[in-house]
Amino acid sequence: MCYTIKQINNFMGERVATIMKYDVELSRLIKKEEIAQGIFDFTVKCPSLAKKAQAGQFAHLAVPGKTLRRPISICDAVGDSLRLVFQVRGQGTEKLAQAKVGDDIDVLAPLGHGFTIPPRGTVAFIGGGIGVPPMLYSGKQAEKAIAILGFRDKAGVILAKDFEEACSQVIVTTDDGSFGLHGFVTDALRTVIDKVDLVCACGPTPMLKAVAAMAREHNTPCQVSMEERMGCGVGACLVCACKTKKDNKEGYSHVCKNGPVFNAEEVVW
Ligand SMILES: Cc1cc2nc3c(=O)[nH]c(=O)nc-3n(C[C@H](O)[C@H](O)[C@H](O)COP(=O)(O)OP(=O)(O)OC[C@H]3O[C@@H](n4cnc5c(N)ncnc54)[C@H](O)[C@@H]3O)c2cc1C
Ligand code: FES
Repeated sequence: MCYTIKQINNFMGERVATIMKYDVELSRLIKKEEIAQGIFDFTVKCPSLAKKAQAGQFAHLAVPGKTLRRPISICDAVGDSLRLVFQVRGQGTEKLAQAKVGDDIDVLAPLGHGFTIPPRGTVAFIGGGIGVPPMLYSGKQAEKAIAILGFRDKAGVILAKDFEEACSQVIVTTDDGSFGLHGFVTDALRTVIDKVDLVCACGPTPMLKAVAAMAREHNTPCQVSMEERMGCGVGACLVCACKTKKDNKEGYSHVCKNGPVFNAEEVVW
């Protein structure tokens, strides 16, 4: 089964119309684990947010002592809980990482426009580094999911077991060959692209650009999750503008509201 780009866009239109509104919930941290150096896996109990969450959306977390919230992708939504996996980058994520099981975290979610997964067919879910977590819940939505997860080295590999349970096929790549296939996610994508109906990707921009180019070459629809610095997270402050095009006209979109997931063809790389 192969969906055309137009069909996928129609699915996306239907999805936007049915997206439910976000909410704020004081969410109890019920599980916390450091799954690789400086990478934390949080499970927070937030029944009203978890039931609305869709693949590829994100949560905006309040950090004690900071004015701005921090955007973290929804890694998974199970029952009444959300799973959020993040890397310590600066002061905000460092402070978040200090939260203890039993603490309450102020979570605004689910935000943005996520991936649109067609009900039938095979989808390749590609994650690079800290772009891997949102592909887990996304992979669970597809009839047949091929996960391609790229990391720098063996020490950075995260969530491989979770993906094994959720997807039909999992390919792990490392830049230095210390685990899985030696190479980039695009090397793995090349081996399966002829059997996929859609490519979904999240990771560093050069990776997204290379994935989008390969999908285009094979005439396969592609959706990419973009990352920009954020302020409000709900389309009010204009901090997160990214250059996009529609009908060959260039303009700007809000990553927080129109994205983070865009059709690869819409992005001005
Ligand atoms: C839609 C989206 C989803 C994301 N999902 C994840 C995820 O699942 N896991 C993960 O580890 N990281 C994720 N990030 C990146 C994460 O938000 C930043 O690493 C984090 O905000 C850095 O905050 P800090 O205070 O530690 O760093 P600082 O550099 O001290 O932050 C200063 C300010 O810049 C903003 N900022 C800094 N870097 C980024 C960035 N890359 N993107 C957006 N805002 C930024 C912060 O929100 C803050 O307002 C995501 C970003 C976006 C936009
Ligand atoms: S973060 Fe404020 S408009 Fe997107």
